[in-house]
Amino acid sequence: MQKKEQLYEGKAKKVYRTDDPELLIVDYKDDATAFNGLKKGTITGKGVINNKMSNLLMKRLEKAGIPTHFVEELSERETVVKKVSIVPLEVIIRNIAAGSFAQRYGVEEGGVFEKPTIEFSYKNDALGDPLLNAYHAIALKLATGEEIETIKKYAFAVNEQLKAFWSECGVTLVDFKLEFGRLADGTIVLADEISPDTCRLWDSKTGEKLDKDRFRRDLGGVEDAYAEVMKRLSEHI
Ligand code: TMP
Ligand code: ASP
Repeated sequence: MQKKEQLYEGKAKKVYRTDDPELLIVDYKDDATAFNGLKKGTITGKGVINNKMSNLLMKRLEKAGIPTHFVEELSERETVVKKVSIVPLEVIIRNIAAGSFAQRYGVEEGGVFEKPTIEFSYKNDALGDPLLNAYHAIALKLATGEEIETIKKYAFAVNEQLKAFWSECGVTLVDFKLEFGRLADGTIVLADEISPDTCRLWDSKTGEKLDKDRFRRDLGGVEDAYAEVMKRLSEHI
């Protein structure tokens, strides 16, 4: 599979065209941003870890019946994925209060929910990714009602699979963000990535943060945290 011209460069990945109009190559970078790009930095080795971790988790989700864009890992940083048109929604599932949920509702981080929650934000950097509900998403024609039902079903199924898997690794899945895309025939599949950039992962025993919050909050030990979760995943997958 040959990389053709670059189609897009995002905050953490570059996307390239290939010979096949239905396939793309993503190339994971070490660049890290937070707060809508306001904070910038580098997490050395992050691209390699996120590529591998996302691929291993997506393969596992496929086996569990959740369709994904994953096709084939090409190299340490590069993966062939199915071309999708991204549904411009950030789909966030939470098991435990943290981050913007704790801030918005004035609760301590760490409270475990009886049931997981789901929320959507409009993927739009200029507007700062505002929260919206399913009715807003339909009104804005970001997705149909049927697509939103499919996305909700897949997102909760991803949570059950990942929660159980991370638990085997001694890691608590606090919350995470997913993105979905449409194949040419309209089929909804899981896209983007699943990594410590897009999940909150806490050590189950100590509560230590093993994800991008170490970068967002200047906690130090960022590279070590990414390496630690990758090591635990490799030992259990
Ligand atoms: P939040 O608590 O800041 O809303 O984040 C919820 C989850 O979504 C957390 O696991 C981090 C992830 N996330 C992203 O992947 N991209 C983003 O731009 C933001 C704000 C959060
Ligand atoms: N990736 C996001 C950004 O720069 C933020 C985050 O992950 O916290 O804007």
